[in-house]
Amino acid sequence: MENGIHHYDDSSQVPENIKKYWHQRYLIFSEYDAGIQMTDDAWFGITPEPVARRIADHVAKAAPAEKKILIDTFAGAGGNAIAFALSGRWDQIFAIEKDPQVLQCAKHNASIYGVESKIWWIEGDCFGIMKTRLKSTAKNAVIFASPPWGGPGYTEDAIFNLNTMQPYGLPDLYDAFVKPAKDVVLYLPRTSDLRQLAKYVPDGKTLQIMHYCMKGASKALCVFYGDFANVKTAIDY
Ligand SMILES: C[S@@+](CC[C@H](N)C(=O)[O-])C[C@H]1O[C@@H](n2cnc3c(N)ncnc32)[C@H](O)[C@@H]1O
Repeated sequence: MENGIHHYDDSSQVPENIKKYWHQRYLIFSEYDAGIQMTDDAWFGITPEPVARRIADHVAKAAPAEKKILIDTFAGAGGNAIAFALSGRWDQIFAIEKDPQVLQCAKHNASIYGVESKIWWIEGDCFGIMKTRLKSTAKNAVIFASPPWGGPGYTEDAIFNLNTMQPYGLPDLYDAFVKPAKDVVLYLPRTSDLRQLAKYVPDGKTLQIMHYCMKGASKALCVFYGDFANVKTAIDY
């Protein structure tokens, strides 16, 4: 396909460094065979569907009831944005992605799940857009941010240093999202340094962390900043 956008049907088409992810394609997108499209880079960052659905369920139930807008600041190929739209919890969902090809994949993938028109797609830099176009919206929104983790090398550290995470460290994410919006969920490496996350919790509040697991191992964690209900008890298991 043109512009670096692909739907790989057969293992022989898949670049070596992506094969590991392609073999898990039905875990990543249950509707893969309906024509899911990806760029080669998007495979590394995508949130697998069961994890995205679980997160969407948690955010839907634990977010302050008056908040009806969700902003996904790093939409990628749509893994999380699609799950948020499918939850039916939000009056408005904005999905921001700076890479035009990846954004094209996200819109296409959302159409496969029947939710493309439920999402406002914005191409551009989320840090700039949060300060301009979405400045007044941000106060009334829940922000979900799944930033790049600096490539697959993040697994090598026993404790992942969020302050030196590339290209955006935790302080950048805090200033850009938590300060203006308050109710923010960050999707981060499972080994993230909890002491660094705790620095941003106001006195008297608790640090809410959920690990999201697949096949008996944590895939990633989310930290919930702001006025979320207790994530564990907000949910009916
Ligand atoms: C880890 S991926 C997100 C994956 C997404 N949650 C999903 O499930 O498909 C991070 C994405 O953020 C995008 N990105 C990086 N910097 C950005 C920025 N400043 N503004 C908007 N998007 C950005 C990258 O192009 C990449 O697609």
